[in-house]
Amino acid sequence: MDLPDLNFELNTQHKELIKISQTLTSLLEAEAESNHDEFIDALEQLLDFSTSHFVAEERLMYIRGYPQIEEHKIAHNDFLTKIVPLISRVTHHVSGSHEEVAQFLADWLENHVFTEDKKLEQFLKG
Ligand SMILES: [Fe+2]
Ligand SMILES: [Fe+2]
Repeated sequence: MDLPDLNFELNTQHKELIKISQTLTSLLEAEAESNHDEFIDALEQLLDFSTSHFVAEERLMYIRGYPQIEEHKIAHNDFLTKIVPLISRVTHHVSGSHEEVAQFLADWLENHVFTEDKKLEQFLKG
């Protein structure tokens, strides 16, 4: 795969990530407790997807010499560190955990995907 393909791939992955987040949000709006299993499935999908997406994104940053690679990697690790116990809380029906997930994802999309990843996409285009 050459670099333009990898840039395109990154963009496609971000769209997929947004789609999974939307699925989670709509499950939540439709009474999360009654969709518990689907909610857990979507969360696990999010974890799997994010893990492989971070590997691809970090590889691309490394290849292209992205200056903010270290801070960016810390943000990815921080996401994984927080999402894992959050999934466990949802799995164990901890009160309020569905809403915690929704807030966590909204913050992640706004503060990372729509800002830091956008900066990276702009850098890669340059
Ligand atoms: Fe990222
Ligand atoms: Fe990303």
